[in-house]
Amino acid sequence: MKPSISQKPGPIGVFDSGYGGLTILSKIREVLPEYDYIYLGDNARTPYGTRSFDIVYEFTLQAVNKLFEMGCHLVILACNTASAKALRSIQINDLPGIDPNRRVLGVIRPTVECIGDITQSRHIGILATAGTIKSESYPLEIHKLYPDITVSGEACPMWVPLVENNEANSPGADYFIQKYIDNLLDKDPQIDTVILGCTHYPLLLPKIKHYMPQGIQVVAQGEYVAESLKDYLRRHPEMDEKCTRGGNCTFCTTEAEDKFIESASAFLNEEITVQRISLE
Ligand code: DGL
Repeated sequence: MKPSISQKPGPIGVFDSGYGGLTILSKIREVLPEYDYIYLGDNARTPYGTRSFDIVYEFTLQAVNKLFEMGCHLVILACNTASAKALRSIQINDLPGIDPNRRVLGVIRPTVECIGDITQSRHIGILATAGTIKSESYPLEIHKLYPDITVSGEACPMWVPLVENNEANSPGADYFIQKYIDNLLDKDPQIDTVILGCTHYPLLLPKIKHYMPQGIQVVAQGEYVAESLKDYLRRHPEMDEKCTRGGNCTFCTTEAEDKFIESASAFLNEEITVQRISLE
């Protein structure tokens, strides 16, 4: 166990490569407003979606260690790419050496659990970063629970940059929104449910819904992750006791504070203060 890690109760850590995890954080805070949170965005090194397994793992582990040092006992990887490429290694190989009583949870499993009740045709689509699609994490997790479901995926490498650069609602975004949706539905015309497998994508929801043919259900992850966390804390009172309650949220970024405040305003309806930190 690292001596620098405090055993006192602390906030729940929420990590993303950039701003996307704010869509998860806001749903979590709606469902669990009484807890304290630290949000950490690795904005200086985003996007993760096009990076190799090794790099995503290295960056994610740095972020998890930082959140532990800041007092968190429980960290949510509010990033599909990190959940797909780093979560299992951290849980199996790193946590036992860092502190076996701390926990890191991802966003893929909670999203996948709901899908069996939503699809009628048993054909679903995943829109996600290249890294998440390549990892095959969604088909693997879905088939563990629902072996009868056919899963098709389409990487959307332009969508995260559109969000990170505040271009989500610009006319230029339309071309890339339509393109990836069409590519996905060309792969399997029987798809009736599409998972937005990247936490940035809810910011593109108005345009995604516009280009998605009628009758296809679009699933954003926030509410499923929030309900799953609530259930986790109910089932794990020993962890619940280690999470402080004050309703506060601290925001940290690896980029400049003013840039974070400006861009995060698209995701949040509140005034925030931000602290710049270094992960390297
Ligand atoms: N928001 C992240 C996700 O859910 C990834 C964005 C990125 O850094 O590429 O996958």
